[in-house]
Amino acid sequence: MADLFSMKNRVVLLTGASRGLGRDMALTLGGAGATVLCAGRTVKELEKTARAITRKGGRAHVVPLDITDEAAVREQVASIISRHRRIDVLVNNAGIIYREAIVDTTTDAFRAAVETDLVSQFMVAREVGRHMLERKYGRIVNISSIMGILGRATVAGYVAAKHGLIGLTKSLAVEFGPHVTANAIAPGYIRTELNVPLQRNKEFCVMLEQRTAAHRWGKPEDLRGPLLLLASDASAYMTGHTLVVDGGMTTILA
Ligand SMILES: NC(=O)c1ccc[n+]([C@@H]2O[C@H](COP(=O)([O-])OP(=O)(O)OC[C@H]3O[C@@H](n4cnc5c(N)ncnc54)[C@H](OP(=O)(O)O)[C@@H]3O)[C@@H](O)[C@H]2O)c1
Repeated sequence: MADLFSMKNRVVLLTGASRGLGRDMALTLGGAGATVLCAGRTVKELEKTARAITRKGGRAHVVPLDITDEAAVREQVASIISRHRRIDVLVNNAGIIYREAIVDTTTDAFRAAVETDLVSQFMVAREVGRHMLERKYGRIVNISSIMGILGRATVAGYVAAKHGLIGLTKSLAVEFGPHVTANAIAPGYIRTELNVPLQRNKEFCVMLEQRTAAHRWGKPEDLRGPLLLLASDASAYMTGHTLVVDGGMTTILA
C-alpha cells in the first residue's frame, strides 16, 4: 500500500524550498524517494534544505530562481529538463503576504501579491506543463490557502491571488488532462515565518483554537500526507480538486 504514495524515481520541482512549509515539503518528498529540485531566491537556505535531504540519504539540488522573473523561469525549466531529463511533479509553493487595509494598499503592493502568488504560478505551470504534456505524465500541486475560500481584512492581494490559484488549478486540470493532473492544497494556519504577527496576537490565537476541531495551530507536518497524496499516483483520478487542510476552520462556526 505504501507504494501507492511512493515518490521513487520522481523528479520534483518545488518552489519556496528555502524555509517554512517548503522546507518540510522538500524533506517529505525527498524522504519518499524523490529527487527534489529546491527552488527559491535565498541560495544559502536552499542549500541547507538540500543538505538536510542528502544527509538522510535522499537526492536534492538547488535551483536559484525568482519565480516572478519570466526569463529566469523559462531558462531554469529548460536547464532542468536538459540536466534531469524530466520534471514529474511541480509543487508551486512559494508565496508572499502583505498586511494592510485596502484603503492604505497601493496598487503596486496589490499587484506584487498577485504577481508572486498567482501570475508566477501560472508561468511556472505553463513552462513545466508543456513538457509534462509531451511526456504524458505530470502532477501539479498548487499551494493555495483557506484565504482562497474565505475573505479576510488587511490581506486583499493575498486573498485575491489565492482564490485565483484555485481557479487556475481547475483550468490546468481541464487543459492538461488526461495524463497530467493539477490539484491544490488549501492549508489553514500553520506556524511559519509568514504569520509571525498572528502567532503573537492573543485574540487571534483564541479565535483559532475555538474554530479548529484540533484546538491548535497547524504544524508543517500536518501537510505531509495531503502533499504525498496529490504528488503521487495515489491521486491518479483526482484533478482540479482543492484539498482543505485546516483542522476544520472553514467548516466550524464558533
Ligand atoms: N503558513 C501558513 O499558515 C500558510 C497557510 C496557507 C497557505 N500558505 C502558503 O504556503 C506557502 C508557503 O508558506 P510559508 O508559510 O512556508 O511561508 P514562508 O515561510 O514565508 O516561505 C515562503 C517561501 O516562498 C519563497 N518565495 C517568496 N517569494 C519568492 C519569489 N519571488 N521567488 C521564489 N521564491 C519565493 C521564499 O523563499 P525566498 O525568500 O528564499 O525566495 C520562501 O521559501 C505560501 O504560498 C503560502 O501562501 C501558508
